[in-house]
Amino acid sequence: CGIVGYIGDKQAQEVLINGLSRLEYRGYDSAGIATLENEMIRVEKKKGRLKNLEDVLDKTPLSGQVGIGHTRWATHGVPSDANAHPHCSVNKEISVVHNGIIENYMTLKDELQAQGHVFISDTDTEVIAHLLNELYTGDLVETIQIALQRMSGSYALAVLCANEPDKIVAVRKDSPLIVGLGDGENFIASDIPAILNYTREVYLLDNGEMAVLTADHIQVMNSTGNTVDKEVFVVDWDPGDAEKGGYDHFMMKEMVEQPKAMMEALMSRCCENGASFAGLKLNAEMMKKINRIQIVACGTAYHAGMVGKYYFEKFARISVETEAASEYRYKNPIVDENTLLIVISQSGETADTLAAIRLAKERGAWVLAVTNVVGSSIAREADDVIYTNAGPEIAVASTKAYVTQVGCMMLLASFLGNLNGKMKKEDAARICHGLMMTPGLIDKALETQDVIKAFADKNYQISDLFYMGRGVDLYTSMEGSLKLKEISYIHSEAYAAGELKHGPIALIEDGTIVVAVCTQENVFEKMLSNIKEVKARGAHVLAIVQAGHEDIASEVDEVWVIPEMDDDITAIPTIVYLQLLAYYLAVARGCDVDKPKNLAKSVTVE
Ligand code: G6P
Repeated sequence: CGIVGYIGDKQAQEVLINGLSRLEYRGYDSAGIATLENEMIRVEKKKGRLKNLEDVLDKTPLSGQVGIGHTRWATHGVPSDANAHPHCSVNKEISVVHNGIIENYMTLKDELQAQGHVFISDTDTEVIAHLLNELYTGDLVETIQIALQRMSGSYALAVLCANEPDKIVAVRKDSPLIVGLGDGENFIASDIPAILNYTREVYLLDNGEMAVLTADHIQVMNSTGNTVDKEVFVVDWDPGDAEKGGYDHFMMKEMVEQPKAMMEALMSRCCENGASFAGLKLNAEMMKKINRIQIVACGTAYHAGMVGKYYFEKFARISVETEAASEYRYKNPIVDENTLLIVISQSGETADTLAAIRLAKERGAWVLAVTNVVGSSIAREADDVIYTNAGPEIAVASTKAYVTQVGCMMLLASFLGNLNGKMKKEDAARICHGLMMTPGLIDKALETQDVIKAFADKNYQISDLFYMGRGVDLYTSMEGSLKLKEISYIHSEAYAAGELKHGPIALIEDGTIVVAVCTQENVFEKMLSNIKEVKARGAHVLAIVQAGHEDIASEVDEVWVIPEMDDDITAIPTIVYLQLLAYYLAVARGCDVDKPKNLAKSVTVE
């Protein structure tokens, strides 16, 4: 979910809608705003896309120079007008927007209902509005401080109070929230893009902190109520980076930006003699005592983690465990002060990944984060950070963040291989050289769009698609398959090519498309056997091979030939072909590519 808040001399509605339009990637089940004028709170909220809310506001605007807004990804309660935020107390004296989950909301709700409060939604958030109303002492800040002691769970909250019309109060616990500093106006937001059009100067709230905003003053307090001196963080993103810039979709724009993103990720880290990470605290001395490495992440970042594991083991000969963050913390993982935990996260805010960091730190591990967002919660809580430098990623389906994550993991693997002496100098140099070729290779992939689009236009009515690969091609296949599911809703599976015959081959019928990713020379012959197995069952096989293997055409139905390259870097250019395949299939099916159903870009609930 996304939060935005405004107090100043502009009409709040305009600023809030502008902010929400930049936060829609955080959830688009419903949207709403509340404004305050003449000590009256007015609310408008609508199920579905922000557009629905805008249509209503066009006819009946909400005036007022103070307001809060929200875009929702449903957790408690179906997407509906009633469950949309902001939520208010019955007398409309208090209005609240909230990200996160109030875990004890049932107990609080029972209590409040017994006291006569009537609830109109199924959400946990509505409880907060009633609770604040019930506890109101005549001082909103004090009331929130009392209420927080009753609430457990995670929250980023913004609150309006009709009796105190000159302020917004915001609190953060385990869900991101920033304060934007303006001139005669101030802002709050869950993410930077929401306010990038208005200011680049922000305070990053820490856990337990509360901000009280008036038009020309901001006070930040810690959980004990003492004022905190916050450092101003200046955002270096260009507002244009978060705009579509003439492309039909953010996803296309971001795919096209991949060569530049890779350059930014590699620059200054790819050196003649191997990888170098300026500012990284992890050193050879510390590595000596590390006897366990775990990589933890979610979604696409998890796939980057799998590629990372493959290269850590190949280059540094260190065995690595990879785990989905949502599983990690509930299985009592074996972690101690000799463990290195590497987390990967585009947003730096994914709740499960953050929870994994906290658990590992409690047990003494050294935590290294690979993330895209400077100042994000994950970046701040980790002991060490590698920034992927991909620039803002808006489309829900991750593309440029993924290739930079993979690039950083490969560099890190060769860096560790260098530290522990397991990687030969010439191999480390070879990897850096290979990685430096990837921006050009991605460009080549992007040039084949017409071929990919034609394939998609011919096949968009399929209901299933299988991917198979061996070695690192398996992880590329898994990421390709995730991309396809996310945006085209075509059922898809990715399998280790040798495993297909142990089950999924039962699903292959006449004409079922199987994408065989065959970029690795050492298993090329084995891939050919697997291709024959599925062909014998009627599959329509599309093979992806490096130049030099064009003759595979006699064995398959279609071939995409990628340029010849070092086998150790194919994971980066190859995924671009699969991203484009997913994209064009989704477009041909008329899907909303940037905002796929049921998904959100940044998942700040566990
Ligand atoms: C969500 C997004 C995915 C993303 C995952 C992890 O599910 O839809 O695209 O890969 O979260 O996000 P992170 O920001 O931690 O990389």
